[in-house]
Amino acid sequence: MTEAILLVGGQGTRLRPVTVNTPKPMVPAAGVPFLAHQIARAAAAGVTHIVMATCYLAEVFEPYFGDGSAFGVSLEYVVEDEPLGTGGAIRNAARRLTGGPDEPVLVFNGDILTGLDIAGLVDAHRAVDADVTLHLVRVEDPRAFGLVPTDPEGRVLAFTEKPQTPEEIVTDQINAGCYVFRRGVIDSIPDGRPVSVERETFPGLLASGARLHGVTEDTYWLDLGKPESFVQASADLVRGVVSSPAVPGPRGEALVLPGAKVADGALLSGGTVVGVGARVEAGAVVAGSIVLDGAVVGEDTRVTASLIGSGASVGSRTVLDGAVIGDGAVIGSDNELRAGVRVWCESELPAGSVRFSSDR
Ligand code: GDD
Ligand code: MG
Repeated sequence: MTEAILLVGGQGTRLRPVTVNTPKPMVPAAGVPFLAHQIARAAAAGVTHIVMATCYLAEVFEPYFGDGSAFGVSLEYVVEDEPLGTGGAIRNAARRLTGGPDEPVLVFNGDILTGLDIAGLVDAHRAVDADVTLHLVRVEDPRAFGLVPTDPEGRVLAFTEKPQTPEEIVTDQINAGCYVFRRGVIDSIPDGRPVSVERETFPGLLASGARLHGVTEDTYWLDLGKPESFVQASADLVRGVVSSPAVPGPRGEALVLPGAKVADGALLSGGTVVGVGARVEAGAVVAGSIVLDGAVVGEDTRVTASLIGSGASVGSRTVLDGAVIGDGAVIGSDNELRAGVRVWCESELPAGSVRFSSDR
């Protein structure tokens, strides 16, 4: 039996401005709430018991995930009154674990999509008898992450969360947000107060001589902090660039959910999702995008790498590229929205109001 804690809380967890009330883990990626992919991937790796550590009301998650049986796991929810930070959340959730002090406990950040060999990480942890084993990836710009230099054997030498000075950037290896803890180590995290596992627990463990082991696996890895990455993750799941048992359909260029209407002559590609009851009109070209439930894409409109929120509508001959359209927004015809533009939920943009190209 392998147990896991899933961290789903903290700041900035609504995919603003796409959804008014839905926390990001519940916004659909490849047709299902993002968290479903993490749970399904963990289950496929042999995890049998997951404790979800949240600061939200469990009502957000329970109607969809229930007791986890649909995913083949036993799922429990622990709700913090006040956000306890990553370490505090792990400590708090550990009350529900059943394994002994030497058992491995997986911990996942809830905003990461990865192709990591989860069972392999647990094996590596056991092989070196580590206190904590961390999955590490290499990135071009490590500044927004936890820096984790290691020696040639994988022993972690330091942990620097979000380096502030150039001197602190000593490696391009970063914490990928998936750990294996020895259960007893979790019990040493202070109880009942906010604790950052990155700023307090890991540096403290290193100072006390604990064995932190890093496994650098250059696998698919995407941090979903930005809406652009969320759209990318969804497209990659649909195309099968990264696999998840939770994708509700075969891998391919597009996933069209039940009740969606795609007109003849509309073109879907690049892992596009068309949600329940959504409509894509004739001549529209939609690539690598998410069209959420009940949204409408007008005739001859071109949508690339964009997210169109639930019930939003986009008029004819409009261009969206790298755009995020909030739930219920109404975009008139003949607009051109590019380059990370975000349209707030329920806003209205009249026809022909915005363009990026010349005024011809
Ligand atoms: N339950 C609970 N309570 N969860 C929390 C809390 C809390 O108080 N605070 C954060 N979390 C959850 C977040 O929802 C997320 O899933 C995870 O813990 C990490 O927190 P983030 O706020 O997303 O941190 P980050 O993205 O700035 O940095 C983290 O992730 C990077 C990889 O994406 C760190 O772990 C970095 O070291 C790491 O490189
Ligand atoms: Mg994050």
